[in-house]
Amino acid sequence: MNRDIVCIGAGYIGGPTMAVIAKMNPGRKVVVVDINKERIDAWNSPDFELPVYEPGLADVVKETRGRNLFFSTDIESAVRECDIVFVGVNTPTKMFGRGAGRASDLQFWESTAREIKRYAKSDKIVIEKSTLPVRTAAAMESILNTRDGCKFTVLSNPEFLAEGTAIRDLLEPDRVLIGGPQDEDGIRAIAEAAAIYASWVPREKIITSNVWSAELAKLAANAFLAQRVSSINAIAGLCEATGADVDEVARVIGADGRIGPKFLKAGPGFGGSCFKKDVLNLVYLCESAGLHTAAEYWMQVVKMNEHQQERIVSRLFKEMFNTLAGKKIAIFGFAFKADTGDTRETPAGTVARLLAEEHVRLAVTDPKALRNARADLAGVGGVEFEEDEYKAAADADAVVVMTDWSRYPQLDWERIYSNMRKPALVFDTRNCLDARKLKSIGFKTVNIGK
Ligand code: NAD
Ligand code: UGA
Repeated sequence: MNRDIVCIGAGYIGGPTMAVIAKMNPGRKVVVVDINKERIDAWNSPDFELPVYEPGLADVVKETRGRNLFFSTDIESAVRECDIVFVGVNTPTKMFGRGAGRASDLQFWESTAREIKRYAKSDKIVIEKSTLPVRTAAAMESILNTRDGCKFTVLSNPEFLAEGTAIRDLLEPDRVLIGGPQDEDGIRAIAEAAAIYASWVPREKIITSNVWSAELAKLAANAFLAQRVSSINAIAGLCEATGADVDEVARVIGADGRIGPKFLKAGPGFGGSCFKKDVLNLVYLCESAGLHTAAEYWMQVVKMNEHQQERIVSRLFKEMFNTLAGKKIAIFGFAFKADTGDTRETPAGTVARLLAEEHVRLAVTDPKALRNARADLAGVGGVEFEEDEYKAAADADAVVVMTDWSRYPQLDWERIYSNMRKPALVFDTRNCLDARKLKSIGFKTVNIGK
């Protein structure tokens, strides 16, 4: 068996993960392939204008690209020449037919499996990196392991990195999870996969398990995280109604060692490509297993999240004299969280669309996500896009902070105030600005959960 690796799918997960694997395994050749030529060209761009923005990523790619990390559209040669194939293709929510709006759309994953089977000339370990419904590996095994041809062992190695901190999460993971068949071949394959990570991850952090537990553990981990965000947002509404402060409540809850302080930040609701998709997938799995009460329980996590964005618009109505038509609102931040250019399922998109329906004039600004914002809001009228926050806020009636970019508290808010219409409102949905300072300038301020 050779030590070379190919990863099919050069997206947010494939690119950064393989870059770090190549960095920490200089003796292995790592090839990342994709059907999207534009994406591969961007990964190969001479000035490192990569398709994904992640702090620290460009440095890792600079160190490894051309040494032992390669990006290519030649899927056939890459698959033929390596023994280990990671699959990191997209698994969006299915929007048609059975399971529409809930189940995972596995067409990309299945066509990848068929590609692997077509091109392989020797036995391979196939590793699921994408997040997949429980028992997907078994389905893949049956596509790959027909009586003729090579032997494929399918493992589940879900990824736990978060965008914005991907490189740090990859270099110092809480855990690496590898699930595989519990027979001789499976155990050998798990050891091969573990060896890739063991070159930098302490052995005790590499958890091995059976395939189905690994697949379900990934979905459940995301569902638990999403549930925490919805739980604190549910408390935020109550804080607003009662005069309590959600940050204070979160501080007290988080001081309990059993609960812990992380993921208790109230805000505009969770975004990103995964939480909603994975919780809906869990709902679908529960329903398929006849566990309707469990399905309803998880569905509430998504409903609470959607409600949070509607609440933001309701509060804007309340604070802006119950009429929004014709007013200008500047949206500060369009990415679903800071330090990423990703806008998939971003709460800012939902809020922008709801405001556009009210005939609000919108000015959207974001330091890294403006290109995606333009594409996302292409069909929405009355929206301008501004790189410069001061220009975005000029003549606006309100600024709504949707992403907690670290540059926002550093802005010259007196200058912003002087160019806005009065009364000038700041709705800080991330509670990341100094409200006292803003008030002293003359702003009317609104926060989530306060
Ligand atoms: P993405 O859309 O950014 O990238 C997927 C890539 O796969 C695309 O570039 C697409 O062109 C390519 N692709 C699709 N079909 C292909 C085929 N047949 N052959 C070759 N390439 C093909 O998606 P992503 O955000 O990287 O997510 C991928 C998976 O990883 C999902 O299952 C997701 O749930 C999981 N995941 C993502 C993150 C994250 O932070 N984005 C974290 C953990 C897990
Ligand atoms: C999440 C998980 O954290 C990763 O472990 C997982 O690998 C990944 O999903 C995935 O499977 O794709 P990610 O979505 O990139 O990572 O980012 P998070 O930091 O989890 O944030 C998700 C959303 O929740 C963001 O919109 C964020 O602003 C929001 N959030 C997070 C809050 O509103 N409050 C918090 O306290 C934490």
